[in-house]
Amino acid sequence: MIDHATIERILDAAEITDVVSDFVTLRKRGVNQLGLCPFHNEKTPSFTVSPAKGIFKCFGCGKGGNAVNFIMEHENLSYPEALKWLAKKYHIDIVEEEQTDEQIQQKNDRESMMIVSSFAQKFFTRYLWEENEGRTIGLSYFRERSFRDDILKKFEVGFAPDGKTAFTEVAQKEGYKIEFLEKTGLTIKRDNWMRDRFAGRVMFPIHNLAGRVIAFGGRILKEDKKIAKYLNSPESDIYHKGRVLYGIFQAKREISKTDKCYLVEGYTDVLSMHQAGIENVVASSGTALTPDQIRMVKRFTPNITIIYDGDAAGIKASMRGIDLVLEEGMNVKVLLLPEGEDPDSFAKKMGATGYLEYINKNETDFIQFKTRLLLKDTENDPIAKARLISDVIRSVSVIPDSITRSVYIKECSRLMGVNEEVLYNEVRKQKAKQTDDFRKKEFREKAKKIAAKPKAQAKKINPADLLIEEREFLRFLLKYCTVPLFEIEEENASNPQFISVGEFMIQELEADDLVSENPLFKKVFYEVSENIDTENFDSWKHFVYHPDGEINQLATNLLSEKYVESKRWTKAGAFTEQEKDILDLLIPKIVNEYKFRKIKILETDIEKQINSASAENNFDTVFELMGTLTNLKKVEKILAEKLGSRAYN
Ligand code: CTP
Ligand code: MN
Repeated sequence: MIDHATIERILDAAEITDVVSDFVTLRKRGVNQLGLCPFHNEKTPSFTVSPAKGIFKCFGCGKGGNAVNFIMEHENLSYPEALKWLAKKYHIDIVEEEQTDEQIQQKNDRESMMIVSSFAQKFFTRYLWEENEGRTIGLSYFRERSFRDDILKKFEVGFAPDGKTAFTEVAQKEGYKIEFLEKTGLTIKRDNWMRDRFAGRVMFPIHNLAGRVIAFGGRILKEDKKIAKYLNSPESDIYHKGRVLYGIFQAKREISKTDKCYLVEGYTDVLSMHQAGIENVVASSGTALTPDQIRMVKRFTPNITIIYDGDAAGIKASMRGIDLVLEEGMNVKVLLLPEGEDPDSFAKKMGATGYLEYINKNETDFIQFKTRLLLKDTENDPIAKARLISDVIRSVSVIPDSITRSVYIKECSRLMGVNEEVLYNEVRKQKAKQTDDFRKKEFREKAKKIAAKPKAQAKKINPADLLIEEREFLRFLLKYCTVPLFEIEEENASNPQFISVGEFMIQELEADDLVSENPLFKKVFYEVSENIDTENFDSWKHFVYHPDGEINQLATNLLSEKYVESKRWTKAGAFTEQEKDILDLLIPKIVNEYKFRKIKILETDIEKQINSASAENNFDTVFELMGTLTNLKKVEKILAEKLGSRAYN
């Protein structure tokens, strides 16, 4: 337990912008500060911090609260843990009882794994500097590669003793449980034997954003082609290698300050660049760059320069990285090093000033990079040139911002000597394809999730339990699923292209995340979305003859429904028209009616939650719910305007 006075001291010290700035780059906006929300993926900042009120609030995802709430959310901690975290940051002593074995065991797994990782890091580091074996083998290796002591200390590198279980034995003697040694991968254990994973290697601890050790990379010292040069911790509850960037903890302030981040491949590249005085650098550590990693950088800056080795593998890796970075709406430059160099060797060769000079002179934006690289081979080959153009344009088309896109199109046009208009057409074509691919993938994933839900959960539901708006939605979805609805622009297509009723209806609910929770509705909805791309999909047949009795019953009922139809005709004043002739008017209306009803229900539900939360004085929750409610009201208003009616209240 932390006493009351200490809590107050912590709360006083934890100034909200200071706490948040450890993780998010904030820029002044009036009396508030604004940044990209760390809790959801966004392209334009809606994460607001009010220094005066001491709170943060994201108008995108609705998360909000004070400094403690921020740390709880961000570091995945409980309230007392978050307080301790802040106490540590502000050097406030907390008097705590000695931890007994039992208490350690009670802590959750993740915490225990971090504790054992931290112990291991300290052990390896001490071993490197103080033990004979560590000094003669590990430290002399680093010195041979001319790493300075201050850099080695900054990155907390170490050495793992070269015995079968030397480390594990010490750890166990110190009271660390084999369970967590194994879960972190520090110890490899089988039925009746175990051994240290990293024995005899120099150790690079991997820190998370908050600076805690979550994994290791260990480098072997011998030149042995048969054994992997680097051995890394396995994936675990605390270490997902696709979500971590090596060096981010040591780099984040400088990235924010310089508004730029260098991305390199390896551990030693990061160390050498720091040694050359360039501290805004992170490494993907041998894995292909992931969107999660890019988003992590994006919290601190929109500008990335990819530095890769000047060999074929390096070039290929940069190409892959480029599109990913562009997709996240960031600016990407590329720097290829002279052949045979990597950032580590090159930094050492050039020294600090020479290196920076080289970077500034040679980094190129991705268009130039791609074109220059590929143009060489296409001089007199029109087919190769066309391929190059569409390759570069694919990169341009993933850029979310249209102004940036058009800037690049101009540049492409100039560099490749191709008419801008032609390039715009190409972009449109690519974008249409990407949207389509993305949508299909999303559907597949959603549908899979739904299908995976255990059957037992789906309680018996009377088809009559569906809301009128839900029934109407399904009726039109099933009846007119494949009927063309709106014409869409698609370059290069010889015939006009249409989006079908089914595609439109599915897209609309998916986009607003308003798919009904009603199990029957969900089942039909996702089955349609899964099958809609199948050739000759006949939705009526599919559902009327469905093996699930509830579903074929529903389909049959819907087929015979007439009453809503007549109501609608009277209102629309269009008695004489057949519904199938005015689907372009009717479908959007049905979709909006459905959305309106759903949102109303959601609002009522949230109002209830607000009431009960404020009865419990749970103001953080109230605060958060109010944000959500405000957003819903906005949507409601828009829908009401579209529906042009107050009758739906
Ligand atoms: N890597 C890995 N496993 C390997 C080889 C490489 O995880 N078997 C990762 C490491 O993070 C490494 C990065 O890929 O730092 C780049 O690999 P490489 O260029 O081969 O190593 P360097 O960083 O140059 O390492 P060193 O300078 O120590 O040779
Ligand atoms: Mn190297």
